[in-house]
Amino acid sequence: MCGIVGYTGMQEAAPILLEGLKRLEYRGYDSAGIAVINGNEISVRKVSGRIAKLCEITNDGAACPGKVGIGHTRWATHGAPTDINAHPHVSNDGKFAVVHNGIIENYLALREELINKGYHFESETDTEVVVQLLEMYYKGDLKSAVMRVSSRLQGSYALGVVCSDAPDEIVAIRESSPLIIGIGAGENYFASDITALVSYTKNVIYLEDGEFAQITPDTVMIYDLLGNPVSKKVQRVTWDVQAAEKGGYEHFMLKEIVEQPRAVEATIRPRIRDNRVVLEEEGLNAEFLRGIKRIYITACGSAYYAGCVGRYAIESLCRIPVSTELASEFRYGDPMVDSETLVIVLSQSGETADTIAAIKESKSKGAPVLAIVNVVGSSVAKLADFTLYTWAGPEIAVATTKGYTTQLALLYLFALYTAGELGRIDEKTYRHMLRSLRSLPQKIQESVDLNPLIENYADDYRDARSIFFIGRNSDYGAAMEGALKMKEISYIHAEAYAAGELKHGTIALIEEHQPVIALCCNDTVREKTMNNIIEVKARGADVLALAEKRDADIISIADRMLWLPEVEPVFAGAVEIIPLQLLAYYTAKARNCDIDKPKNLAKSVTVE
Ligand code: G6P
Repeated sequence: MCGIVGYTGMQEAAPILLEGLKRLEYRGYDSAGIAVINGNEISVRKVSGRIAKLCEITNDGAACPGKVGIGHTRWATHGAPTDINAHPHVSNDGKFAVVHNGIIENYLALREELINKGYHFESETDTEVVVQLLEMYYKGDLKSAVMRVSSRLQGSYALGVVCSDAPDEIVAIRESSPLIIGIGAGENYFASDITALVSYTKNVIYLEDGEFAQITPDTVMIYDLLGNPVSKKVQRVTWDVQAAEKGGYEHFMLKEIVEQPRAVEATIRPRIRDNRVVLEEEGLNAEFLRGIKRIYITACGSAYYAGCVGRYAIESLCRIPVSTELASEFRYGDPMVDSETLVIVLSQSGETADTIAAIKESKSKGAPVLAIVNVVGSSVAKLADFTLYTWAGPEIAVATTKGYTTQLALLYLFALYTAGELGRIDEKTYRHMLRSLRSLPQKIQESVDLNPLIENYADDYRDARSIFFIGRNSDYGAAMEGALKMKEISYIHAEAYAAGELKHGTIALIEEHQPVIALCCNDTVREKTMNNIIEVKARGADVLALAEKRDADIISIADRMLWLPEVEPVFAGAVEIIPLQLLAYYTAKARNCDIDKPKNLAKSVTVE
């Protein structure tokens, strides 16, 4: 996600903005910029790349004199990470500058409207519509203009606005994106993230959705969207910078686990309109899909396991054969792909060497490539024929969590879209599946809410020498990702087995007290997995089972249960993985492991 910061007071604004932006660096970004009001003019400096470069070209802010300003770190969404796409954006008349965190979902329609009225656009961003709308609606009162503009915007945004006609004022507005006002003495601030503020002030006001603040050096007025004043409490922050970076969580991994409902919502919501999944703007259409006879999914690490789980959704909804293969195998396996094979690659970073090689191999054989990727403008996104972005925001912990679930969310969307376009499911089933998909963020939240219970369970695993994860079909995919999470961060040997394979060898390893985690979330194979639980229990295993509440009879055969919310079986993978992430997290914590930076592992594997 992007970061925003603003200052109005008696000091020079630019050095304060640059310092605030540096505090936001940990979140990940690809470009940065500041706008400062100097007399009646707004001066803007922005660059792709690091904040150090921005400091260099502004002589640490000295080249941008002025006491009111706004700043931004961008994590590219709409448009590549270039100087021009970097924020702040400025109106055609030069009077307004805007920084934005979030996504304006109806920006294409607004852009067209503005172009028809004679406005021109410099960047490819969704944000630029905001600043041109401000120019259009401004009649001498910044507050009224901001209210008019916000009534036209759909999506999520935290915006900071300056206007050269109001040289000591900033307006900051929030809708579904965090925004905090910092209160100083004779100076005030805003930021998207408390980290940018704590070294200046610990007195803050948290804005709620649909509120905006008019900020001058001596006053902070908060309003609702009708312009009625809202009275807010000033709160005292006790976090230091380090705690603030992690949003108060002990580790980035836990913060990112908890962020999953929101990340999945951000990935799904913009792609559902008028009760349909809409992927046309991202290049897909029925005609193209009709030419596809089979699908390969290829990726590395967790992204590969997302493919293993997503495969079942595509096959079951679309009835197209899907093979999932590790990119490191695929690239050297002389894969049998052609123009009728869609190759789907998954990658959080978009820079994984084997995944990139798999794309090149596929393209050389004439196969179209669809990338599901988190980093805009990354190599994978550039090489693929179609790109669907997961709107997970930057992921800092090495072990992926929200990157994984948002990949799954996109595979589910793709499956439902394709099934609908190809007429493979009837309208009633389509609607039912769509409702289920829409409810996924809520179901994931219910799964995250198991957190305290799982923390208690983790002590039972801290001294385990090995843990088995079993399941069938999509549960098996989730078992593989659960086992990977456990070994990555706790260093306990963990293996996933297709439950039906136990008898073919693995059961020889089951003895008294052997921990087994059984996934029973997929209705279609539930009875079968229950039989496997009985088999391992008979050999003394200690079984923790994950099942939906409606499957109450499992309690009589497992030692312990984690009850998950009910969800359509094809989408269960995104819900059942959450407790496994949490279990790995708390087990690693109990073993004093370096959770965010596990030994020998890298976040992005850019070499073979
Ligand atoms: C590394 C990371 C994993 C990730 C894998 C693939 O191993 O530690 O979390 O799943 O790479 O990375 P990608 O960026 O392509 O999803």
